[in-house]
Amino acid sequence: MILSIDDLRDLAKRRIPRAIFDYADGGSYRELTLRANAADLDAISFRQRVMVDVSAVSVATTVLGGALSMPLAIAPTGLSGLFHADGEILGARAAAAFGIPFCLSTMSICSIEDVRTATGQPFWFQQYLMRDRGFNQALIERALAAQCSALMLTLDLPLLGERHRDARNGLNIPPRLSLRNVWDVATKPAWVRKVMFGKRRTFGNLAGHIPGATGMLNLAEWTHSQFDASVNWRDVEWVRSRWPGRLILKGVLDAEDARFALAAGADAVVVSNHGGRQLDGAPSSISVLPEVVGAIDGRCEVLFDGGIRSGQDIAKALALGARAGLIGKSYLFALAAAGEAGVTRALEIMRNELRVTFALTGTTSVAAAGRHMLKGLK
Ligand SMILES: Cc1cc2nc3c(=O)[nH]c(=O)nc-3n(C[C@H](O)[C@H](O)[C@H](O)COP(=O)(O)O)c2cc1C
Repeated sequence: MILSIDDLRDLAKRRIPRAIFDYADGGSYRELTLRANAADLDAISFRQRVMVDVSAVSVATTVLGGALSMPLAIAPTGLSGLFHADGEILGARAAAAFGIPFCLSTMSICSIEDVRTATGQPFWFQQYLMRDRGFNQALIERALAAQCSALMLTLDLPLLGERHRDARNGLNIPPRLSLRNVWDVATKPAWVRKVMFGKRRTFGNLAGHIPGATGMLNLAEWTHSQFDASVNWRDVEWVRSRWPGRLILKGVLDAEDARFALAAGADAVVVSNHGGRQLDGAPSSISVLPEVVGAIDGRCEVLFDGGIRSGQDIAKALALGARAGLIGKSYLFALAAAGEAGVTRALEIMRNELRVTFALTGTTSVAAAGRHMLKGLK
């Protein structure tokens, strides 16, 4: 029975190779921040209210001027297409049908153009600043041509935090194949047939656009050579001056950075530690959400990600001032478990949990959510 995101995670674990599962499930170094994201959400308790008329509860809202059926979006995740064949297309379709935004990562398997053609709906597009700014410029133009409704610039990856699980599983560049990997992959024949022999098997946004780099391995090498440790707020302004639409800055954990993001022209910021995959020892996203909300002070929208596994988690983020949450791992597990239907199921589960949480805290709408829903920390 699939009753929770944890059930989808269990199913995903059985369906995809361990290296792919761990790539999503893991964090950097000792995984302190990864665990803190979930633990700090769990430590918040609700203030139960009774005898409030909750016969009409709505979880609908708006983000950046667009209507959402619930305050949630799908976060950008690289290589989603390895969790299920055509993963990004399926994720984008499920999100569009549900009425929530989908954010495509530059490091996706399906390209911007593929997703646009397959869904016919606007989506958000995420990029990193690369050494080759000409490539960033080209991506901006492609996102404009695909009528992407927002550009999300990720700020917290000037270089890559080390993920020990990936190294141990041989997910290096070049990949290290061990007998264990080969055996593990061989025990997932459906995944091999659909993903390894599927139509889309490389970095869709890069293939054909990087002179001299063909194939997954060359493109992965190219990507690794493109991390730019010199990036700074002037580069954000460079993007701002080239992107006429909504700009979302992702990876803000600090009040001072929140003010810099505002000054750089953000329409929204995402309070995020990259799902515990970058600075290990950074605070959980939920613990710094109030600080960032305070610094932004209503001047742009504040989104939140890191550890959301349930509608209750979304309610906690809303109570602390987020306009909406984003899900990375919960989406990937659902996708790996059952493709588009899996993602739809995950969204249904979360929406139902959010509705019940609203009702039992006496909250009838997103606008009415606030700190009064919380009892405090356990
Ligand atoms: C497998 C995986 C790949 C990711 N790839 C990207 C990416 O390409 N760009 C990006 O900005 N964030 C990326 N993220 C971070 C997510 O956008 C998001 O911040 C994070 O997953 C939120 O935490 P959660 O997984 O606990 O929901 C990735 C996360 C995961 C799990």
